[in-house]
Amino acid sequence: MISTDTDECRLATKSKDFYLDVIEGLRETPKRLSSKYFYDKKGDSLFEAIMHSPDYYLTRCEMEIFIRQAEEIVCRIAGQNANFELIELGPGNCAKSIHLLHALTQVNAVFNYVPIDISENVINELRSFLPVHSPNLRFNGVVGDYFDALSVHSLSPGTRKVVMCLGGNIGNMTVAESNRFCAKLRSYLQPGDQCIIGFDLVKHPAIIQRAYDDRAGLTREFNLNLLTRINRELDADFRVDQFDHYCSYDPLTGAAKSYLVSLDDMVVSISGDLISFEKDECIWTEISQKYAKDQILQMATDNGFSHTAEFMDSKSWFMDAVWTAV
Ligand code: AVJ
Repeated sequence: MISTDTDECRLATKSKDFYLDVIEGLRETPKRLSSKYFYDKKGDSLFEAIMHSPDYYLTRCEMEIFIRQAEEIVCRIAGQNANFELIELGPGNCAKSIHLLHALTQVNAVFNYVPIDISENVINELRSFLPVHSPNLRFNGVVGDYFDALSVHSLSPGTRKVVMCLGGNIGNMTVAESNRFCAKLRSYLQPGDQCIIGFDLVKHPAIIQRAYDDRAGLTREFNLNLLTRINRELDADFRVDQFDHYCSYDPLTGAAKSYLVSLDDMVVSISGDLISFEKDECIWTEISQKYAKDQILQMATDNGFSHTAEFMDSKSWFMDAVWTAV
């Protein structure tokens, strides 16, 4: 009974945050919505499809890094016989990190794997998947906000930490936000602790553009699904067919930005709040920031890390950087 109450309470708080974020974002000029709300059930499955799309290269590139170079990554992170905690922020189905986990097991590294995700669903899946695929793996999944979970973890001092943030998730932040994120992450770490961060690199702009406007229209559906989700969860009446997906990549700033474009003048009700749109008005829904190598080195030193090692795919389109806290 009690647990049902807390669940309901947590659910209520969650959808209240969603509601407040949506209303606030749509009252701003220019209007905006956060990409963190893409991932409902439909959004998860669309993102899964995007990862398999021939036009979306990020997942394949990073997968190649983990398949081909897991042993070298292990050499850079496994301290001599020392016990450490391998923390992963936003593990998804851990398809990439599983290669690292296996390589670590191969060299008899002593470590505890700690996947942290805000989605209970993700952690539950790992709880059933990991014991089958890696029977000897010590792991402890945590449901929660990254930094809340990290601070709980810093309560067990003395254990070296390696924090992974893969998949180009850092890309969903602006450069300024990423710097704040790295500084905050650093504040939870001790000198010698490490992180592995996945960065999508700058490349021919047409390749990036296509990744966020794929020919099968998956990204379009993914972006528009946010309106469907708002309709369902926040009692809104967006006419989804009256919005378009638009993505622009600016090679001068490395920012790929996605928008939803209103195709007509209209007024939308969201739980009774009225929001008006002008024809051709855009809602900014996502940033996917691309980095040049020197920006990555700069970000490391600016936030108290040294750039220890870097791993790239064969096309040099994606980089997993290993940083050590100094
Ligand atoms: C999950 C943040 C890495 O920005 O490339 C894919 C999400 N958005 N297609 C990205 C996404 C549109 C993705 N990340």
